[in-house]
Amino acid sequence: MSELVGIEDRGPIRWLRLNRADKKNAITSPMYRAMTAALDEAEAGTATAAVVIAGQPGVFSAGNDIGEFLGYAQSGALGPAVLSFLKRLVTLEKPLVAAVDGLAIGVGTTLLFHCDLVYASPGSTFRTPFLDLGLVPEAGSSLIAPRLMGHQRAFEMLCLGASFTAEKALAAGLVNEIVPADRLEARVGEVAARLASRPPDALKAARRLVRGDAAAILAQMDKEADEFSRRLVSAEAREAFAAFLEKRPADFAKLHG
Ligand code: COA
Repeated sequence: MSELVGIEDRGPIRWLRLNRADKKNAITSPMYRAMTAALDEAEAGTATAAVVIAGQPGVFSAGNDIGEFLGYAQSGALGPAVLSFLKRLVTLEKPLVAAVDGLAIGVGTTLLFHCDLVYASPGSTFRTPFLDLGLVPEAGSSLIAPRLMGHQRAFEMLCLGASFTAEKALAAGLVNEIVPADRLEARVGEVAARLASRPPDALKAARRLVRGDAAAILAQMDKEADEFSRRLVSAEAREAFAAFLEKRPADFAKLHG
């Protein structure tokens, strides 16, 4: 288990907490693996009724660790941990609730498409800068986002890389409720407890029906991953990762000039 992911069982609710505040909760392979294992454990048996994913004050997650992206670009292969985690979100039968306070970037936003309920503090921002990095949308977001918020808003988020405020994310259907930061986790705890009081088998069945065809989402994730892997080794992506790590703006023009 990675100490960068906190796992706490509060009665029937399992809290997963991203715990890498110094790197804005950027997620690495060991962190994905720790979360997948924690979800596997939550799914098995009857001790856990619902899972909450939370971050740190002011930062939910700055997305995938960009240093790891650069490593994938150099090795030419996407690490398996991220896709296993994303697929586990799809196959999980128990409900997932997110508590977002602050930045939710990249997979920090796209993992929310797999949560059944999302609560956010007023200052939260949601952004998927895939194109800025020379990449394409992942996590099934290219299928789920247009379905949730319509093509234009999904395009604005996924392709233009626009920042969505908490209000805009609420209007787009990504967020259920905006809750002041100091009451956010208490509110999420209440809602999760209410889920835990539901009849578990009926809840699982209802969740399956409401969420729709898991196979279609998994197939889209594979398509996205193929394209994402091709993009990772592209000159555009390498320039973007290097620019981020060197703290300078990316210069895509020099690649095409
Ligand atoms: N991967 C790796 N490291 C990251 C990271 C990421 N996705 N996001 C932030 N960090 C690191 C920074 O490199 C920095 O490390 P350092 O202190 O060793 O230099 C530290 O976290 C703090 O980030 P910093 O950029 O100084 O904070 P900020 O408040 O000015 O900006 C962000 C915060 C999140 C807006 C900015 O870090 C950012 O844009 N991160 C990249 C987000 C991204 O593109 N994610 C991938 C999406 S597909």
